[in-house]
Amino acid sequence: MRKLIIYTLFVSVIMSQACKKKEEIQTPAADTVAVAKASVTKASFGKLPDGQEVSVYTLKNKNGIELQVINYGAIVTSLKAPDKNGTLEDIVLGFDSLAGYLTPAPYFGAVVGRYGNRIGKGKFKLDGKEYTLAQNNNGQHLHGGLKGFDKVFWNIEEAPSTEGVALKLTYLSKDMEEGYPGNLNVEVLYILTDNNEWKIEYKATTDKKTIVNLTQHSYFNLTGNAKRDILEHKLTLHADKLVPVDKVLIPTGELTDVTNTPFDFRNETVIGARINDKDQQLELGLGYDHCWVLSSSDSVKLAASVYEPTSGRYLEVYTSEPGIQFYSGNFLDGSLTGKGGVQYKHRYGLCLETEHYPDSPNKPAFPSVVLNPGETYSTQTTYKFSTK
Ligand code: BGC
Repeated sequence: MRKLIIYTLFVSVIMSQACKKKEEIQTPAADTVAVAKASVTKASFGKLPDGQEVSVYTLKNKNGIELQVINYGAIVTSLKAPDKNGTLEDIVLGFDSLAGYLTPAPYFGAVVGRYGNRIGKGKFKLDGKEYTLAQNNNGQHLHGGLKGFDKVFWNIEEAPSTEGVALKLTYLSKDMEEGYPGNLNVEVLYILTDNNEWKIEYKATTDKKTIVNLTQHSYFNLTGNAKRDILEHKLTLHADKLVPVDKVLIPTGELTDVTNTPFDFRNETVIGARINDKDQQLELGLGYDHCWVLSSSDSVKLAASVYEPTSGRYLEVYTSEPGIQFYSGNFLDGSLTGKGGVQYKHRYGLCLETEHYPDSPNKPAFPSVVLNPGETYSTQTTYKFSTK
């Protein structure tokens, strides 16, 4: 009997050990699945001068694409996408720490508003009343003023999405902030899909008639970690017309045909091929710094694509907006040192800012940027990453 009890005990110990082993073996398998699952994490990114804590949110999709966002300026500080060999590298310009973003920086990764791009002399009228905004760029108003949406604290929360992992960023821009009328409630959704897209949905409502034109100001360099300038990138813009500008980069009001000009990117063209051509618009912009009129009237359409041959990275831009500002980083001059100690020299990044045309409030023929109480401003833009 004693022998039987000892034997039974022995067998049950062996059995329980075997079960434990099974659990241990299963655990790593479950972990592997977890790594390949999309995720959102949050960590500290330092403090603003007024003591406010800034967090960095990391969104990862199941393919490993990673997008990092901070509360300050709704800035995308890092975006890691694979090259043709599957190597993940950062494809946007920015800084390693909050301090970099607090020094005068050219809108790296930020949401710009209330009006992205320029408004002539910072003046516009609504119902006969004139409003005056900051003249923060050569006597003109640029990107929302002295303290635009790129320099304010955004509340961030994880948001449910059927398309991927998502963050909801909100900001209340008070009546007359930077000179704009109306309390404007702004909501931006950043969604990272398992289809390798960064989808942005902008929404805003107001309690007084106002103007709104929101965009994203990421500087892309598809070489990965900004190895060289963007002049070898190949660009396609689905636009037959350009919004030409005057000497302070305010639209003249015409929309000109791009045919036979260095602004014709309807067929994929190397950015550096014509950037130094003798052309009045290129001279005024010191390179490309213009808004193109998107040809398709579809609600959401392919606006642009960029291909970088050495890495094989390919970026497509889809939008509901009528225009796209292509800025070839002409004002980057090596004075800013960014992530990993890389010096951001002339044309080390390019921006593709989907938006309404510059100075629309003063150009009645351009699509309207007016938002009335009771209406919802709603636009979307998607950056899609792949290789070829
Ligand atoms: C503008 C440039 C400006 C840059 C900010 C772009 O959106 O078109 O003219 O210099 O933003 O650095």
